[in-house]
Amino acid sequence: MSKVHAVITAVGGYLPDYILNNHELSTMMDTSDEWITTRIGIKERRILKKENTGTSYMAAKAVEEIFEKTGVKPEEIDVVICATSTPDYIFPATAAVVCERVGIKGALAYDLQAACSGFIVGLTSATAFVESGRFKKALVIGAEKMSSITNYEDRATAPIFGDGAAAVLVEPTNEELGVMDAILHTDSTGIKHLHMKAGGSMMPASHETVDNKLHYVYQEGQAVFKNAVYDMAEVSAEIMERNNLTGDDISWLIPHQANLRIIDAVQKRTGVDHDKVLINIEHIGNTSAASIPIGLWEMEKKFKKGDNIILTAFGAGFTWGAIYLKWGY
Ligand code: UT7
Repeated sequence: MSKVHAVITAVGGYLPDYILNNHELSTMMDTSDEWITTRIGIKERRILKKENTGTSYMAAKAVEEIFEKTGVKPEEIDVVICATSTPDYIFPATAAVVCERVGIKGALAYDLQAACSGFIVGLTSATAFVESGRFKKALVIGAEKMSSITNYEDRATAPIFGDGAAAVLVEPTNEELGVMDAILHTDSTGIKHLHMKAGGSMMPASHETVDNKLHYVYQEGQAVFKNAVYDMAEVSAEIMERNNLTGDDISWLIPHQANLRIIDAVQKRTGVDHDKVLINIEHIGNTSAASIPIGLWEMEKKFKKGDNIILTAFGAGFTWGAIYLKWGY
């Protein structure tokens, strides 16, 4: 019998309506459209402004789109994995809140914390579940309300992040399609360069932590930049080499959207044509765990069955990795 593969069979996504552009940002802090465009590559990002809504609101919209497109019913879902650094609550899992919002009952639902690499870690986990036969229908969500942990007085981090969500449905197939390979890594020496200082069990929220603005992304940009360039480029090249793929064999390269200069470096190292590389950072910004599935969602119409696709991400932890998949439809 041929091997069971885990294949993406549908994608859904959601972006909030509000557009925060560089001009508006430059009225809030000492920055400029020119600096942000040349150093990061971002022109605008989406912000979830709707009152009393968090990450689950956007994640649920993405999942509902999948149900609408496919006719799959909530009761058919076996597992929901939500990759996020901005959960609705510390507990319970945002994945559980999504289930409540969309009517999924009885499925395993949990959150996954691997920062900007969360989606590729989630897709790898779902692949293992599906390949093993344990589950038949898995939802993997990447969803972030990064605006909830962004300090809009800090010009070093505020221009980078945006909000959004997207999800994929993963199912078994006997065809030579779906997730073919994955490489995932963590290097904890990177923790000091990128983290949020307060709000967890080590430093619970207090008047002092709020006064000292410790509930926001803390990032030493240059250290993160150097590691992101090297690790994303190398891991993408490694997964291509061990699957005997050259740049010419790759239909699409979907890198995490952190910085246009990082994306360019990955493109050069892998030898994939520039016009086969997803670049949506200009209008979406860095949506952390949501950036790769949002990319899949935006590109879906261009994909053809059997396309060779490389996904690659880098984020806090440091965590990074790459997935090689063959598109399923
Ligand atoms: O997604 C998770 C992983 N995260 C990443 O991959 C992010 C990786 N890092 C980066 O993308 C870049 O390091 C940043 C975009 C965060 C920063 O760009 P940079 O080219 O590394 O700038 P820098 O921090 O070295 O700052 C250069 C200069 C500084 O001024 P001086 O000291 O040279 O006078 C900053 O104060 O640019 C200044 N600067 C700004 N100026 C205008 C920093 N932010 C701004 C700003 N507007 N927004």
